[in-house]
Amino acid sequence: MTKTVLIATQKPFAAEAKTQTQAILEEAGYSVKVLESYADEADLLGAIAEADAIIVRSDKIHSGVLDAGKNLKLVVRAGAGYDNVDTAAAKERGIAVMNTPGQNANAVAELVFGMLVFSARGQYDGKPGTELKGKTLGIHALGNVGMNVLRIAKGFDMEVLAFDPYLADADISAAGATPVSTVEELYAKSDYLSLHIPATDETKNSIGKALLTSMPQGAALVNTARAEVIDEAGLVEALKERSDLRYLTDIAPSEATHAALGEFGKRYFATPKKMGAQTEEANTNAATAAARQIIGFLERGERKHVVND
Ligand code: 3PG
Repeated sequence: MTKTVLIATQKPFAAEAKTQTQAILEEAGYSVKVLESYADEADLLGAIAEADAIIVRSDKIHSGVLDAGKNLKLVVRAGAGYDNVDTAAAKERGIAVMNTPGQNANAVAELVFGMLVFSARGQYDGKPGTELKGKTLGIHALGNVGMNVLRIAKGFDMEVLAFDPYLADADISAAGATPVSTVEELYAKSDYLSLHIPATDETKNSIGKALLTSMPQGAALVNTARAEVIDEAGLVEALKERSDLRYLTDIAPSEATHAALGEFGKRYFATPKKMGAQTEEANTNAATAAARQIIGFLERGERKHVVND
């Protein structure tokens, strides 16, 4: 029987990404359904009923959605962070979950520097700004995105420090950054701090007032990772206490915090929509990788990138 793959994206992929992904799956004999920009979860529950595999972005795949997928064998998060998928509930139901690590990393890293220059130049207000050259950039977690941030930072002639408990100091040095041994040291020494930690039970609310107020004069935290890792009350307090600190984010905080931060003028900037992975290239890389992973899994039992074994 023909197998069905559902592409379910509240935030649609670029047209080219969709065309290529559909072509890969159809050539392998699959039927492809696309559900995008859906406002109502009921649409997802209906569409998933026939699917053998599903490709999603930040769409919430909780146990209720998994239950509606009567034929579902695989969920592929076309992206890096899979905190939007209930991986344990999927495992209980015998459904594998994968991500597509690295596929959108360059896009996110480029946005980091877009936000840094935008802020360092006073959001282009015509007054003298500052340069990134010679400043110290701290990278909090040196995974795929962090490594791309490091590569681009060298082009800006920045000093780069990195903290990553999962990497040996020798590997951090070999990548071209100076390793520091604690999160505290990283924040205390960084003029700019780029966050690349995933949202887990351990990291949620972990970046708060103490770390922020330890940063050097005029420092900025740039968040292209997840809103949940920020202790929002602590962030507001830090910006209140230190009139030189800045917070730049691609993932808006809660509405109340967003409103509170609005009072800090240009010291706070949030992209109107999450834009890090939103390029044609990143969409194409992530979605076509997802399609290939689905074919490998369903046809050959390949389990590379399964995150809930
Ligand atoms: C990721 O984890 O890959 C990024 O946060 C991208 O998320 P998006 O697909 O919702 O843009």
